[in-house]
Amino acid sequence: MQKRLSKQLSDKIELNHGAAIPQHGFGVFLISDAEEADTVIHKALDVGYRSFDTAQSYENEGLLGDILKRGGCNRDDLFITTKISNRNQGYDQTLVSFEHSLQKLKLEQVDLLLVHWPSQRHFFDTWRALERLYEQKLVRSIGVCNYKIHHLELLQTKANVKPALNQIELHPYLTQHALREYLFEHDIAVEAWSPLGRGAVLQDAAIEEIGKRHNKSTAQVILRWHLQHNTIVIPKSSTPSRIAQNVDIYDFELSPEELNAIDHLNRDLRTGPDPDEIYLKI
Ligand code: A2P
Repeated sequence: MQKRLSKQLSDKIELNHGAAIPQHGFGVFLISDAEEADTVIHKALDVGYRSFDTAQSYENEGLLGDILKRGGCNRDDLFITTKISNRNQGYDQTLVSFEHSLQKLKLEQVDLLLVHWPSQRHFFDTWRALERLYEQKLVRSIGVCNYKIHHLELLQTKANVKPALNQIELHPYLTQHALREYLFEHDIAVEAWSPLGRGAVLQDAAIEEIGKRHNKSTAQVILRWHLQHNTIVIPKSSTPSRIAQNVDIYDFELSPEELNAIDHLNRDLRTGPDPDEIYLKI
């Protein structure tokens, strides 16, 4: 796979539907306290973030919508992603719940709408609803999260619109090599959730060593590794200094040897559930 040199926070990746997504966005998972959200999202805007990733299940679409509205950014400069939660899957429920998401986000159109987890029961019905919202131009792009290769192959048997993107758990201890290759071959963008591995990876001695060479923190090296692999990242932080640190990654480049060394740290270690378990449950 060709590696690219990401130059700035506003760099975008073209999606197969024609829209473009900023490669580096801000995740708001677990940010649900109003005061905290206000501080954190304003800090994210201040350091230059314009892409925000939320979900129905995070229960902060309303807070994000209010803060962005007051933030005074031009709507065209923002890129907003939300996700249909497990309890809202199915054709009608997806359409109804999306209407509520739009109201909470105070938007007329969402940039990217994702299915949060694969569901055996609602698999095609939920996707059909996303296709309808896409045709109605209420969403600019549609995609999935946590789909393994076999879920994507199944979707392909009936889908009219191909997913633009797959948001998956991805970090140096879960490199998902085969899935990433498959997504690349099928022109489906890769987005990493938990790009920093929620703690464990942040203590890795080999990554720390690479960081010392570049005068960067472990988190900065991991984010740079993602960018150089063409992965879209949405790191979350509630700490203003870390929010600033996480965008300060455009003045250095990892060498091919360093990228390779990080690729080899894989342990197939998930911090979240295995999508196959969720698939059977919901
Ligand atoms: P906090 O919110 O307290 O700053 P991920 O996005 O991979 O799930 O990781 C999120 C976790 O990583 C959060 O616990 C966040 O903590 C922490 N984190 C985010 N940025 C950094 C950073 N630059 N250095 C250390 N920890 C970070």
